[in-house]
Amino acid sequence: MRNNKSGPHCLCGPFCIMMTDNIIINIEDLGFDYASDDGEIAALTGVSLSLARGSFTAVIGRNGSGKSTLAKNINALLVPTRGQVTVGGFDTQDEDRIWEIRRMAGMVFQNPDNQLVSAVVEDDVAFGPENLGLPREEIRARVRSSLESVDMYDQRKMAPHLLSGGQKQRIAIAGVVAMRPDVIIFDEPTAMLDPEGRGEVLDIAKRLHAEGITVLLITHFMEETVDADRLVIMDRGRVAMDGAPGEIFTRTEELRALGLRLPFAVDLAEGLRARGVPIPEGLLHEEELAEVLTCLNQK
Ligand SMILES: Nc1ncnc2c1ncn2[C@@H]1O[C@H](COP(=O)(O)OP(=O)(O)OP(=O)(O)O)[C@@H](O)[C@H]1O
Ligand SMILES: [Mg+2]
Repeated sequence: MRNNKSGPHCLCGPFCIMMTDNIIINIEDLGFDYASDDGEIAALTGVSLSLARGSFTAVIGRNGSGKSTLAKNINALLVPTRGQVTVGGFDTQDEDRIWEIRRMAGMVFQNPDNQLVSAVVEDDVAFGPENLGLPREEIRARVRSSLESVDMYDQRKMAPHLLSGGQKQRIAIAGVVAMRPDVIIFDEPTAMLDPEGRGEVLDIAKRLHAEGITVLLITHFMEETVDADRLVIMDRGRVAMDGAPGEIFTRTEELRALGLRLPFAVDLAEGLRARGVPIPEGLLHEEELAEVLTCLNQK
């Protein structure tokens, strides 16, 4: 467990310090308004969330529900209009900590083309560590390990524009990994990819999580949320639902009322149950459903 000496500390005693130290991102009563010609647009209202270090949280919600605004408030691309966001104990309003906050909470965006800046893959991944002013040897080691962690080391001399969408996105992820982040916020990283690229990027996110990185995955694909520890559903700038996917996906009427589709397995299981087929509750994966149906068929 990290104890950052320069970060703020709770004054309630040693037990409380241990408790707060496990929270990497704390969002309290966050409100965010965009200024527009027609006045203020309230994009977020009263959002409170604490993310535990090492957790995997998925965020889903309709277009315009505030997901990207939330992500940008976490890594200080935007700062709260109301309330407070802290990352690793540092307030995102503290201008002296902005670069450290962005290093701690890296972001991967939807369009890989907008995130790659160099003509050669390895230069792209080196870009962030070079800006940190790290020694040459350290930069080289980080580029290598980051590219290996996304299975792209063999393509290190290639030009990014020759890669597939999924490969480009993996290079963008390597660039974030090279900064040694505590958290990676993925803002619809698979939205522009074909099914193969989507699978590759999701596998990398899961692998980085298994290696200890805290993951916040914003997605439009329900199937991408089922393995998360926690699922947060946004609606019109507020948190509408927050819980384990296995629990959230039993609340099918609420989900439909929020305009959300169910994961294929949940939807099909519900339809079969309505026709009297005895499918147990809580099935989230197509493979599990196929297994249950095979067993029923053999009875
Ligand atoms: N730069 C901006 N200026 C003004 N309003 C904005 C701006 N960016 C977003 N908004 C508005 O803020 C609200 C939340 O937008 P946001 O992009 O956070 O939603 P989202 O859930 O990420 O949507 P999507 O699923 O389309 O990515 C929407 O009403 C949107 O129109
Ligand atoms: Mg968005």
